[in-house]
Amino acid sequence: MIFGKKDHLVGLDIGSSFIKVAELKVTGKGIVLHKFGMARIAPGTIVEGRIVDMDNLANDIRTLFKSHKIREKNVAVSTGGHSVVIKTINISTRPEKQLHDTIYAEAEQYIPYDIGDVNIDYQVLGESEFSQGHMSVLVVAVKKDLVADYIDLIHLAGLYPKIIDVDTFALQNAYDMLPNESQGEITLLIDIGASKTSLNILKEKASLMMRDTVSGTNQIIEEICSQFDVTMDEAEQIVSGQTNDIVNQKSIEEICEEVSKSWCTEITEVVNTYQTSANYEKIGEIVLSGGGVFIKGFKDSLLSELDAEISIINPFEALIVNERKFPDSFITKTGALAPIAIGLALRRVDDK
Ligand SMILES: Nc1ncnc2c1ncn2[C@@H]1O[C@H](COP(=O)(O)OP(=O)(O)OP(=O)(O)O)[C@@H](O)[C@H]1O
Ligand SMILES: [Mg+2]
Repeated sequence: MIFGKKDHLVGLDIGSSFIKVAELKVTGKGIVLHKFGMARIAPGTIVEGRIVDMDNLANDIRTLFKSHKIREKNVAVSTGGHSVVIKTINISTRPEKQLHDTIYAEAEQYIPYDIGDVNIDYQVLGESEFSQGHMSVLVVAVKKDLVADYIDLIHLAGLYPKIIDVDTFALQNAYDMLPNESQGEITLLIDIGASKTSLNILKEKASLMMRDTVSGTNQIIEEICSQFDVTMDEAEQIVSGQTNDIVNQKSIEEICEEVSKSWCTEITEVVNTYQTSANYEKIGEIVLSGGGVFIKGFKDSLLSELDAEISIINPFEALIVNERKFPDSFITKTGALAPIAIGLALRRVDDK
């Protein structure tokens, strides 16, 4: 992927807990990690995927760009959560020009919103994995008012939104860039953020199944707040390991264990659903990302449920990284949190 200065974009991942920004530079030797930064945002700024406090969030973005001296103003951002519906549908094979009407008619069944309130995009994935004479089509519907909110936000931050992507696709984009030893294997990408989880089952570069749920590290924070007399901020510090003297450590471990077990159950259910498909092939590897990977016991719990290789994503592996600017300690702490911002920074202005 070569892109010149003209269509160069900064990747901005607006999570409900952290905003992350990444800027890459293409050189003759490869793609260089030029800038990366992240900042925590106040709880309640984004709720259920919707921007609640636009002014403060725009300010946080502006500050993040300033503190990392990012001067490029063209950005790629992504959306996710409730207002985004992603569905792979199977329809009988038909010519391209009949597709539009069929997709819109089919989409009405799956989209819990008025069809006039959403932007619909679709991509033919190829022949269906599930039934002969059918094609698989990936349909994405995003609420128009959500897109409008993101555009307003970016403008308010003094930037230009050039691409509005979807979190799951940006993550897949970062994953696709990585050197891959398990080529041909079915891969499950799982991102567990603060307020949502996304699952994406991939064969090569094609998605076989996607699911979004509302699980995330906020469940742990809420449970800590309900059991102990601590603020949300203190609970957040406890969860991210910045302090361990506020609340008994054993109780925290128990909460983490219970919540991460519920994540495993949910993930196993998705895997089981996938396994009922006709041409099912075993999931060979699971790649984790998001703040959820730091929750003690989660990975082991998942390993005991599913028979697959499990690893944590490191999107920096595909990039040339200057160790003086980004030491190993940074990579270890940030790798799992960075892929969506990196996946967005890899986009170019004329990408769809
Ligand atoms: N070592 C850690 N560093 C950072 N966050 C951690 C760590 N350990 C646990 N966490 C949790 O992970 C959360 C951040 O994860 P992430 O950045 O994936 O969320 P997000 O992208 O903001 O959320 P979402 O995608 O759900 O909107 C924090 O709120 C925190 O509770
Ligand atoms: Mg996120």
